[in-house]
Amino acid sequence: MTKSFQDQLIKHLTDAHSIEQQALVQMKAAPKIAGDPEIASAFEQHETETQEHSRLVDERLTALGASPSKIKDVAGAATGMGFGLFAKLQPDTPGKLVTHAFSYEHMELAAYDMLARLADRAGDVETVQMARRIEEQERAMAARLEGLFDQAVEASLRDLAPDDLGEQLDKYLEDAHAIEAQAIQLLSKGPELAGSSQLAAAYEEHLHQSEEHQQQIDARLASRGASSSKIKDAVLRLGALNWGMFFGAQPDTPAKLAAFSYAFEHLEIGAYELLSRVARRAGDSPTDAAAQNILSEEHAAADKIYAAFDNALDASLEAQGVGAR
Ligand SMILES: [Fe+2]
Ligand SMILES: [Fe+2]
Ligand SMILES: [Fe+2]
Repeated sequence: MTKSFQDQLIKHLTDAHSIEQQALVQMKAAPKIAGDPEIASAFEQHETETQEHSRLVDERLTALGASPSKIKDVAGAATGMGFGLFAKLQPDTPGKLVTHAFSYEHMELAAYDMLARLADRAGDVETVQMARRIEEQERAMAARLEGLFDQAVEASLRDLAPDDLGEQLDKYLEDAHAIEAQAIQLLSKGPELAGSSQLAAAYEEHLHQSEEHQQQIDARLASRGASSSKIKDAVLRLGALNWGMFFGAQPDTPAKLAAFSYAFEHLEIGAYELLSRVARRAGDSPTDAAAQNILSEEHAAADKIYAAFDNALDASLEAQGVGAR
């Protein structure tokens, strides 16, 4: 293995280490806000797995000759795949918790998928096997969470009077509006940071879709008589995400942007899964239909980005002068 590949592997493994540390914090906090025993136990089970991931990653770092002090430095600087952005989204209800975690698991599985592709290029079979094994567990956790959206909505709405449901639905619509605003901001810079024409086209196409999604949400809010000042509150609730790490492009931006965008699509997917369920409970079928339509486009966008992971990794490696395949 060349020195440059070894350096890249250490970088990706160090990012994975950081991501797992942040995951552990989440797994410990999650059961307290889960609001449902099944949701709580999903997190408890994954806490054990997360500890194992952290240990396996550390093992590979040691095997590749990375010094513990270097790992600590990078972890402290929180340069992981944008997990710092996620940490700012403080989930306060079971619904937001499950949505946030669903997205975070997709960031983890994307990080391990990229790591496996990189290790494959470097000829490091042990890291490939480790990364694929962890990726499977992240995927399984994401699937468990996907199966818990019903319980999450139930737990989030449980203590509300039935006539609050319309007000709640407005809030979920405002949240969706705020998330689309963040998506538009990210995607408008996507094409120039993409590093590959396939990804640039995917970002561009989804930017236009996101603008349409936002208009559809606006239309639903307007028809429900919700005011636009409330939308501003939702943006504040979500917290303005700091996109600085992407907008100041680094040589490894294409791979990180692809992995992060993939995770962000799943934040949106989670938000629309909740919106659809709350709309159905409130008897607002046009909103449910809009959520279902948008959902299918979010899934398609995530799939397109995922299909370009090889391109993104190649672009990142090329920008850093690391040997072609
Ligand atoms: Fe993990
Ligand atoms: Fe995980
Ligand atoms: Fe999207």
